[in-house]
Amino acid sequence: MKKVLIVYHSQTGNTETMAKAIAEGAKAAKASVTLKKAADAGIDDLLGCDAVVIGTPNYFSYMAGMVKDFFDRVWFTVRDKVGNKSYSVFGSYGGGGLPAIESVEKICEGLGMKKACECLGVQRQPTAENLKACKEMGKIIAAA
Ligand SMILES: Cc1cc2nc3c(=O)[nH]c(=O)nc-3n(C[C@H](O)[C@H](O)[C@H](O)COP(=O)(O)O)c2cc1C
Repeated sequence: MKKVLIVYHSQTGNTETMAKAIAEGAKAAKASVTLKKAADAGIDDLLGCDAVVIGTPNYFSYMAGMVKDFFDRVWFTVRDKVGNKSYSVFGSYGGGGLPAIESVEKICEGLGMKKACECLGVQRQPTAENLKACKEMGKIIAAA
């Protein structure tokens, strides 16, 4: 059974709603899913998964501080141990597009992880259509 880790930050719930829909999609594809807020996630979570999906809102055209903090805490230990894992990135933004998602992608690429599917950004609150895309992302990640 594929182990999928979903790590995210969300203050007003938009990215969290996406995270839950991704988890639903991955579970429907028979993956075992761990859903964690970035503040609660650590080295063992990342080393223990087959695929990781990182969720961040756009804060000042960058990833949320708590997601950056997650990478800061795990980096030295995991940097040469996660090249076999798949990843993707998702999150909500106000009006500023995808720079936060791209900032996470850069770190995942730096860790040598393989992108499982296109990253997914939505403006503010996800629509029903967006949530469908989130579930699809979960299914793809579960199969990656
Ligand atoms: C501190 C802060 C900074 C933000 N900066 C940006 C920004 O630079 N660009 C943007 O598009 N949205 C920005 N936003 C809006 C959030 O990305 C947007 O409200 C998003 O839906 C929040 O996601 P969440 O509900 O998961 O917390 C900012 C919000 C906050 C709280």
